[in-house]
Amino acid sequence: MNSNVRPDSMARITTKELADKFIAEQVAAVREQVGDKKVLLALSGGVDSSVVAALLIKAIGKQLVCVHVNHGLMRKGESEQVIEVFGKELDANLIYVDATDRFLGLLQGIADPEMKRKIIGGEFIKVFDEEAGKLEGISFLAQGTIYPDILESDGVKAHHNVGGLPEDMEFQLVEPVKLLYKDEVRVVGEALGLPHTMVYRQPFPGPGLGVRCLGAITRDRLHALREADAILREEFEKSSLAEKVWQYFIAVPDMTAVGVIDGKRLDGWCAIIRAVNTTDAMTATIEEIPYELLHRITARITSEVKGISRVLMDITPKPVGTIEFE
Ligand code: XMP
Repeated sequence: MNSNVRPDSMARITTKELADKFIAEQVAAVREQVGDKKVLLALSGGVDSSVVAALLIKAIGKQLVCVHVNHGLMRKGESEQVIEVFGKELDANLIYVDATDRFLGLLQGIADPEMKRKIIGGEFIKVFDEEAGKLEGISFLAQGTIYPDILESDGVKAHHNVGGLPEDMEFQLVEPVKLLYKDEVRVVGEALGLPHTMVYRQPFPGPGLGVRCLGAITRDRLHALREADAILREEFEKSSLAEKVWQYFIAVPDMTAVGVIDGKRLDGWCAIIRAVNTTDAMTATIEEIPYELLHRITARITSEVKGISRVLMDITPKPVGTIEFE
């Protein structure tokens, strides 16, 4: 499948049977394209790169080399899930790079959002490039390009994503899901046996928690954000809101509010809940979360997460508020 145009005759992949047929075709196509050569993939753990990884493991096994760069800004448990699913269960050729110190070191004292994004994106490319440079005999680069990437951004994977790849890398591309829409990628992912939580993962920006730990990132505030976010996700999953709400997360700005814990004054951070619904991320509405659930989340965050003294809720639709805070 070399063309970047989806043929009108291509059936929408909505069932396991159709997904199995697509997988069989792609396995054959990838084997033919790649032969006995090696393929490199930046595996973020997001839906698209995970589905491509699982598909290529099926097609070429250990000829695929996956590199997972943990920039230290992942959500709780995400890198662990990549290691568990790809390193252990699927026995992939997985290189795990914990680059947390590098990223957080460079980000120290940087409050400007654009600067933060630039640092994270630039360093990601550097780390990936370094890892690729250590490998021998790589001829192909796999990418989780999907059809909206082609339609919206000239075929460049997630135009504002971390994971734009070094321009001087001269590999041939392997893009087995480039003619699929997101919902189809998910059906294919499930047919490949990937965990539901991975296949239906909510969108997560490439710069990760870096755009939600507002202002200059510190390790302790980043840790508090990650823990509070994990509580929000857990409570949404328990209440089945996770299935209904398009994107939900916590942001923690660089400001404190006074609180009292065990009779002592605490200058703690504010955890801000944001939960939005949208179809295309261009506009978004606010999910009305039951108060009972909000009370439970607030009680858990303020008692379980060190350093947080208040929980707030952002009810600004897009426009005028963007989905992320930056
Ligand atoms: P905004 O904040 O612009 O976000 O309303 C719209 C959607 O895009 C996601 N987003 C990103 N996704 N890399 C990504 O892959 C990024 O750098 C990035 N920044 C924002 C955001 O989470 C929302 O779903």
